[in-house]
Amino acid sequence: MSVKKVTSLGDPSASGPAAPEAYRAAVIGTGFMGRVHSHAVRASGGEVVGVAGSSSAKAEQFRAANGIARAHADALELIHRPDVDVVHVCTPNHLHAPLSLAALSAGKHVVCEKPLATDAETAQSLTRAAHEADRVAVVPFVYRFHPMAREARAQVAAGSIGRVGLAHGGYLQDWLLYPEEDNWRVDPEVGGPTRAFGDIGSHWCDMLEFVTGDRISSVSAQTSRFNDSRGENGGRPVTTEDLVTFQFATVGGVVGSAVISQVSPGRKNQLVLEVSGTEGSLRFDQERPETLWAGGRGRTGIISRDDPALSSDATRLVNLPVGHPQGYQDCFNALVSDTGAAIAGEEPEGLPVFADGLRAAVLAESVLASARERRWVDVPAVDASAAAPVAGSPGVDGA
Ligand SMILES: NC(=O)c1ccc[n+]([C@@H]2O[C@H](COP(=O)([O-])OP(=O)(O)OC[C@H]3O[C@@H](n4cnc5c(N)ncnc54)[C@H](O)[C@@H]3O)[C@@H](O)[C@H]2O)c1
Repeated sequence: MSVKKVTSLGDPSASGPAAPEAYRAAVIGTGFMGRVHSHAVRASGGEVVGVAGSSSAKAEQFRAANGIARAHADALELIHRPDVDVVHVCTPNHLHAPLSLAALSAGKHVVCEKPLATDAETAQSLTRAAHEADRVAVVPFVYRFHPMAREARAQVAAGSIGRVGLAHGGYLQDWLLYPEEDNWRVDPEVGGPTRAFGDIGSHWCDMLEFVTGDRISSVSAQTSRFNDSRGENGGRPVTTEDLVTFQFATVGGVVGSAVISQVSPGRKNQLVLEVSGTEGSLRFDQERPETLWAGGRGRTGIISRDDPALSSDATRLVNLPVGHPQGYQDCFNALVSDTGAAIAGEEPEGLPVFADGLRAAVLAESVLASARERRWVDVPAVDASAAAPVAGSPGVDGA
């Protein structure tokens, strides 16, 4: 079930990835992610056998619009169906942990949207539960599946830019610019105690750590808000952040900074990561994902995804001829395809798993602690084998 490379429009494999042996999915949540996950399951040769939403009416509407066999009023009933192999959790954040746990307890594989949980302790017990159940348990840090993000990672690993010393960038959106704009993410009971960082800053940190193979070891963060209330008629008070800025140091000696915002006018979904080493720089922009900027003192240029020297890991994610842009949905298709490969016993490169969701939760708590207490905070390491942040909760003065 690996993603097939397509080299020309006439290539017979242009119809997409090979069919999996069995990938019968339940999708819970009928919004943006419910749609994207459903398409991805089908594009990878799987089947969505049932959907559940916040009400029977929503589930039925989604079922009819997306040609799914059955709609369920009760997500637990759907999870326990014997013909479900994988549960895709695409609900608001506070439901991720209970639904994922229910799925693991029922012996199902899980693809749970980020954040895996709204606190690190719960993310840790979920990671442990997935390990003990011996199920494939994935968190869609999906930008990893852009071929040029893989290329950046491969080049850093190969030493093409020398010893990495600096990384910077940000993740900017504007969809929550105005005080009238509201969403379940704003409510900490539903979205969790961090909004901008938990929602999109987590993606940026995952990309940084994925591309460099390094780990953030300490952070100094500040949070801020444009709007202290949100919604119609004066709205409700807001406690979560509209934006975060932070600087960091890594285990490997890299320093850097990032700006995370959901209120930057004109910025829609701009995740930019620039990494500089002693020999060169690489810059990835997820709104221009077909290319990678490669900077150097002697030569600076653009690498495109038909570059003959592209790494094998980038090449395997190329599924359309260059000039026919690949994008966000293709990343999800590849993520589901690799989830299927993992279920079949393969070890696909770079599949983001629950331990990565736990890592994001630990980083989020470190960022919030730093901002609240106005100091550098050491970020506990996460034991990749399953589960425990190594050095206890964030708290020691660092850097
Ligand atoms: N990985 C990514 O790139 C990415 C992108 C966007 C969102 N997300 C994550 O996906 C999740 C969903 O976000 P979204 O943008 O699709 O939100 P959304 O608001 O568009 O959709 C959420 C859906 O959940 C449904 N829902 C609410 N309560 C429910 C319940 N009790 N049972 C079943 N369904 C219920 C709602 O009816 C709605 O259809 C969030 O956790 C978000 O962080 C991830």
